[in-house]
Amino acid sequence: MEQIFQGKTAIVTGAGQGIGFEIGRLLALQGANVVLNDIDPELAARAAEAINEEQGTCVALPGDVSDIGFISRLTTETVNRFGRIDVLIANAGITLFGDFLDYTVDKFRKVVDLNLQGSFFLTQAVCREMRDRKVEGSILLMSSVTGHRAHRQLSAYGMTKAALELMAKTLVLELSPLKITINTIAPGATLTERTAQDTNYEQVWSGITPMGRPATTEDIARAALFLVSPHARHITGQNLVVDGGWTCVSPPPDL
Ligand SMILES: NC(=O)c1ccc[n+]([C@@H]2O[C@H](COP(=O)([O-])OP(=O)(O)OC[C@H]3O[C@@H](n4cnc5c(N)ncnc54)[C@H](O)[C@@H]3O)[C@@H](O)[C@H]2O)c1
Repeated sequence: MEQIFQGKTAIVTGAGQGIGFEIGRLLALQGANVVLNDIDPELAARAAEAINEEQGTCVALPGDVSDIGFISRLTTETVNRFGRIDVLIANAGITLFGDFLDYTVDKFRKVVDLNLQGSFFLTQAVCREMRDRKVEGSILLMSSVTGHRAHRQLSAYGMTKAALELMAKTLVLELSPLKITINTIAPGATLTERTAQDTNYEQVWSGITPMGRPATTEDIARAALFLVSPHARHITGQNLVVDGGWTCVSPPPDL
């Protein structure tokens, strides 16, 4: 595989499984030093081990990326270990379903704390490091098609994803002079360990997705790697929808 990230260091959050894991795996296969974060220490350790066994350099750094104290540790320890940060994939996100009229403050805070506060302040911490070391880096934030289209029970979650896309556009003003790019990816329904637990998930999304199936984690990871690679060096403030055409028609899932 092309070693396009050779000598680069990447942080991937929420990468113990699912989309984040596949992004970490592909980055390592293409030469990056990967700092793999997950809130679950065992999951993080197992994921890093699996990547190292296949090919590459991956270090587990477990912790909660909605916690500002941990964000500081994550960036400092990455720099102490690898000397710099070239790529941030702010992938960790939580989906808490609930009808709007019954949605609790506790649920709302959890969703906003991780999806928004965590992504915002981790991006800030990483960009400060990039600025201080004059690194022309790349940031990728994980959005969702629920930030574009109405989905039942996902008002809070969808709001955070729409906000991340605007965050990327807004930050173009401050980050472009530092030669840092910032983009988002909006995956559609993606088959992961988590979504596979929903009854008939693959069957339902296969029926309503123009391409005839939900995304695989590799579909999302390949798009993510493009946006943080040198091939995308003049792309910033953009969102890439990876949904097999679903948002073009948007039939609601009957799950
Ligand atoms: N799977 C989908 O269909 C889909 C669709 C659109 C967008 N997304 C987005 O893609 C991203 C990854 O989704 P996924 O389905 O692979 O997720 P997932 O739930 O399968 O995995 C996320 C990982 O994040 C970890 N995590 C949870 N809270 C954390 C925290 N506070 N700090 C650090 N790690 C934490 C979890 O332990 C888990 O291993 C999320 O931002 C999600 O919103 C997913």
